[in-house]
Formats: sequence, C-alpha cells, structure tokens
Amino acid sequence: MSNEVRNQITIVDNGNGDEPQVSYTDNRPFASVLEARLARRSLLKGSAGVAALGFMSLGLAGCLSSSDSDDDDVGGGDAGNGGEVGPLIGFTAVAPSESDEIVVPPGYSYQVILPWGTPITGTMPAFDITNTGEEQGMQMGSHHDGMHFFPIEGEEPFEGSSDEGLLVMNHEYVEPRFMHADHIGVALGSGAIVMKGDVRDRDQALKEINAHGVSVVHVRKRADNRWELVQSEYNRRITGLTPMELHGPVRGSDLVKTKYSPQGLATRGTLNNCAMGVTPWNTYMAAEENWAGYFGNRDETIPREHAHYGIRANDSRYRWALAEGGGDEFIRFDATSTGADATQDYRNEPNCFGWMVEIDPFDPNSVPKKRTSLGRFGHEGVVFGPAIEGKPVVCYSGDDSTNQFIYKFVSEQPFQKGVTDGSILDTGVLYVARFNDDGTGEWLPLVYGQNGLDASNGFRDQADVLVNTRLAAGLVGATPMDRPEWGAVDPNNGDVYFTLTNNSGRSTANGANPRTQNRHGHIIRWAEAGGEHASTTFEWDIFLFGGDAGQSGQANLAGKDPNGDALTVDNLLSSPDGLWIDKDSRVWIQTDIGEGSQNSGVYEVFGNNAMLCADPKTGEMRRFLTGPIGQEITGVITTPDQRTMFINVQHPGATTTPTEWELGPRYVRSSWPDRNPARLPPRSATVVIWKDDGGVIGS
Ligand code: FEO
Ligand code: CA
Ligand code: CA
Ligand code: CA
Repeated sequence: MSNEVRNQITIVDNGNGDEPQVSYTDNRPFASVLEARLARRSLLKGSAGVAALGFMSLGLAGCLSSSDSDDDDVGGGDAGNGGEVGPLIGFTAVAPSESDEIVVPPGYSYQVILPWGTPITGTMPAFDITNTGEEQGMQMGSHHDGMHFFPIEGEEPFEGSSDEGLLVMNHEYVEPRFMHADHIGVALGSGAIVMKGDVRDRDQALKEINAHGVSVVHVRKRADNRWELVQSEYNRRITGLTPMELHGPVRGSDLVKTKYSPQGLATRGTLNNCAMGVTPWNTYMAAEENWAGYFGNRDETIPREHAHYGIRANDSRYRWALAEGGGDEFIRFDATSTGADATQDYRNEPNCFGWMVEIDPFDPNSVPKKRTSLGRFGHEGVVFGPAIEGKPVVCYSGDDSTNQFIYKFVSEQPFQKGVTDGSILDTGVLYVARFNDDGTGEWLPLVYGQNGLDASNGFRDQADVLVNTRLAAGLVGATPMDRPEWGAVDPNNGDVYFTLTNNSGRSTANGANPRTQNRHGHIIRWAEAGGEHASTTFEWDIFLFGGDAGQSGQANLAGKDPNGDALTVDNLLSSPDGLWIDKDSRVWIQTDIGEGSQNSGVYEVFGNNAMLCADPKTGEMRRFLTGPIGQEITGVITTPDQRTMFINVQHPGATTTPTEWELGPRYVRSSWPDRNPARLPPRSATVVIWKDDGGVIGS
C-alpha cells in the first residue's frame, strides 16, 4: 500500500468475530428467592466423583428404558463396536503443544482438506488473495466451525456410506486482514477493518459476506484413506446473502417486517454460524451465534429486541452498511429507523437473525428456513434427543453469552419416521433450564400468557416472546450459566451434556456454575426424569471441571476429571467448547481458549487448543489431538463406521499482533496449512483423521 493510500484509510477494530459482544445481566425476580429456599447440598463442594457415581446409577436406571432395543439404531450398528467389552480409549495421549502443526497419537494419520477459498461450485475459481466477492461465493467460506458428514444415500444422518457423503459445515466469521490483498502490511488486528474515507470498499464487503454461511461439499474416500472433493450438483454455498424463509410463530409478525419482506416472511442470509445440529429427518441446522455485532442502530432509543443482544449505535463489526455506493443488500445492516414505517427500512432486520436455520443438503435448490420456535438468542448450536416413534421431537440449544441460558424445544406433534419433516419444529413449547442447587432441575415454559410473559412485561404475543427470548428466560427464573456452548446426547443412555466454556466475569456462584471468575469452564450433564426427553424435570451433575493439574496452586483453577481426580498432563484442558458423543459413548471435547489468552498466563500450560476424549463409564480422559498456533479446534464427526473422523481448525494465526502483520506475512504466527506465508495467509481448514490399522477412531 502506498503512503498516499495509507493516509486515506482509517482502521476500526471492534474485536473478534467469535466472542460475545455483550455481557447482559438478567433480572430474575423469582430465581433468587427460590435458590435461597433450596438446601444447597454438598454435591459439588466435595468429591465430584461421588456426585458422578450417584448420577450414573440414576442415569442408567432412569434413562431411556428402550435403550437396549435401540442399540441397533443409535448405539452400535454393524460397524460400531458398542457391544465390545473393554476400555473405550485405546490411544496414547498426546502432550500439550505450542507447535504450528496438527499432532495426533501414534498409529494415526491425517490429511488437510477444503481450506478457505477452495473452489467448490460455479466456475470453480482457483484460490488467490485477489479473488473477488463473487468468486468467494463459489469457494469454501472462511472460519470453518460446526460440521456433519451426511452419508450419500441421503436417508439416515448417522447410517449409510462411510466412503462418500456430503460434508456440510458452518463458516463463523472472517478476518479481513487475511482476505484482501491491499490489507497486507497494514497494522491490522484479527477483527480490524479498513475504512476508505467514510465508506468500505464495496467488493471487500461483498467478499466478507460471501465468506460467511454454510458450505455443502460432496466428498469421497480414496483407496489410500485420503479424501477428495467430488464435482457434483450437491456442492453449494449458502452465504450472508442467500434468500431464506421465516417459519414458526414469528413468521408474519410485525417484528420481522422489512423493506425486503413487508409481510415478514423472508430475509437474506445467515451469519456467524457457530455449531450446528442434525435433525432425525436428515437435514442440517446452522446456528446464528454472535450475529448482533453485524448490525448498528443509531436511533435514540434502542428497542429491547436489539438492546438485549448487544446492538448499539453505529459500531457494527464490519460496517457493511457503509459499502461504497450503497445497495439494499448492504444498507440492511443499518437498523436505524429511517423510513416512514418498518416496511420502508431495516429497523427489523436484526430480528430476522438469532435463529436456527434448517438446510436440506440433498436439495441444492431448497430455500433455508429459519425455525423461530427454537428461540432467538446467541445460538451456539442445537442437539436432538433420539427420535422415538410416536413421541415428541426434543432438541437442546445453548446461548453462548455470559450468564445466559440453556433451552429445550419439545414439539407438539409426535415423530413419525418417513413422514416428519422440519415443519414439526414450527409448533411446540420452548423451555429454559433452571438448575437447582440440590442437583434437580426444571424446564420452565416460555409461553405467552404464562409466568409473567404477558402485557405486564410488555409482551404482545408468542412471536414477541420468541423475538425477546433472552428477556423472557430471565423473567421466568432461568439459571444464568457460564457461556453454554455445544451440547451432546449420549446415544446409549440419553444423558445430555453441555460445555460451559468459561465466565471470568462471574461474581456470584450457583450450584451449576460453582466457580466465581470461572476461567477454565466445565461440562454439565443431566438425565431427564423417567428417561423421557420431553420431561419437565431432570437431575444434573458436573461431568468435569476444566483447569490445570494443580500447578498454579489455586484451587479455583484446578481441573477435575469425571472421577473427581485432578487432571494430569495427559488431559488438562481449558475452555471446553465443541462436544460430540460417538456411537460407543466416547465423549469428544474440543477447546477454545480465546486468542487473547492462549499460550500465556494461567493458560500457558494448556498449549494450543486441542481435542480430548473421555470415557463416561470409567472417567478416563486423554488428549487426542493438538492444533497449530492461534486457532481453536471445532466441529467433529465420524463416518458411520467410525473409521474416518473430520474436525475443523478455525482461525490459525489469529494471535498475530497488528505490528507483526504490518511487518509482513512472514511474521504471521502461523503458516498452517500451506507453509507458504509469502503467498498464502493462514487458512481455516478441515482435517481428516484415520487410524493406520483401519480401526475405530479413539479405540
Ligand atoms: Fe462460536 Fe460460542 O463459539
Ligand atoms: Ca472462538
Ligand atoms: Ca464454539
Ligand atoms: Ca468458544
């Protein structure tokens, strides 16, 4: 960049794109009264192991009475080894690492595929830093996150081919400095943008929008265990511009009427897609997490449906609304009231975000549907309980922001295999969790007209409750949690697990979030009463505490494994985030120590972000994989035969300082995966892992 040009730009940095932009403190009129009334049992004060044992006996006796007979469907199958006796974990733990590479246990191999910019569709434009916004819309998006492998038959989400399928993944956000040729050598941080005068470069804004969303990629295994892209009509990019429909109670509400859709039926795009979900009818659900940061609102009074999600004056993260020359697809990110009414401007555009978005990967022409019954918040992802014929469909979703909540949706209609489709998600009840200190819990319904969700608190109807889900949940007395991230359901006993990544701002502990200034996070687990996922009560315990092996000498920072024993060098972890439980009940845990913290201070001992594996029956846990510098490990799924695992590496090199970036690409902290820093920035990518002896991953 010439000095002349450099003098005309302004650098704006509103932080990283994957961390919550808001610390919303809720107002809980009933909760504090209730918590004071409940006896605080010693569940978490002493040995977590005792608690875990008590929970397990309850879990095994009380959960899923049909679990034995379900084994063929969800537990083992021909390919799994669910019926085998012996330890679930057979690999040698890998050590914490600060190296700029992937490390897997002895006897395992890996391959990197589908980095950001890989052409997958359209005219298949080859990756280059000079790619245009239009070209980006035909390539893999940036910042890979939640992911699923759909076997190519297109029938069952976890059964079918293990050699060919559709890999579907989210692209959470972008780092503009790595995307635009004229940003090289400018002192930019990970989240920084460049303003040229009062505007943003139009094509750069388009490129950033098109790097968001979801990719559907047809992939196939070769004879040498490596995987390749298949050029196929399934390959598809869904971006921040793709037309989408609103479904469920919010469809047609005044709160989602915009200039684009005066009837409140549609919107464009999905943003900040973090984790995902897989429905029992074989579709994909992308979560909209930190979407609020994409909007600005310069109105004097910010409405509650904006304020409670962190939308403020014109400080949006990427300032797309200021793209040079305007255009409706950019202006919509300005939620200021500029027209005569809501159908003349985009004051309601932010209300079209914060949802779970259903995508049918096997129909490339399908219009994605935002399922508003599941609530509007910072959805990390969604996880479904086992689908049982004749029973409601149940799914769980966490709101990843400090002191926010865990939700569950229970459909009104029963599941009917072969008949049920996504429309079952449009009618039902959204509940929010209260974790009592005595190890019991309740699901509190968020239904208009109940528990104060009425005119006395400014609610007009169920659509209003759903658009203001956070507010409603706080009012009914939900338990504020330490940033709920991914959830997982054990297919063999129905136990539900959620990662609570950290919450250094917690000043008041509660039973389910027992550490103030929770810097390393924990994993909570519960069993629904009677083994019914639709139950309104449950029993919970804490599965493990993130933390060090005791070397800091601070009890509040010490980790505990599922047996209540101190973590060791083989399994210490901080900030659990990604989570998945395989057919044999291995619990796969991925870490996301933020790029502002990793490799320093109390986080130094953990090294780079990693993936671990725990056996819930024995409490054993080992580190399986470590990633390169500056990234987080996220997204995890195996093929049905469990012989191939896919994970994602997101934001390698994000720890690079503005000064280092200014010095030039060779000073970027990570050169993963291309090892060609002069030409290629660090790129998020997918990693394929297999066991050299052809065995089950983890065994
Ligand atoms: Fe996108 Fe909560 O991590
Ligand atoms: Ca992150
Ligand atoms: Ca995450
Ligand atoms: Ca995270």
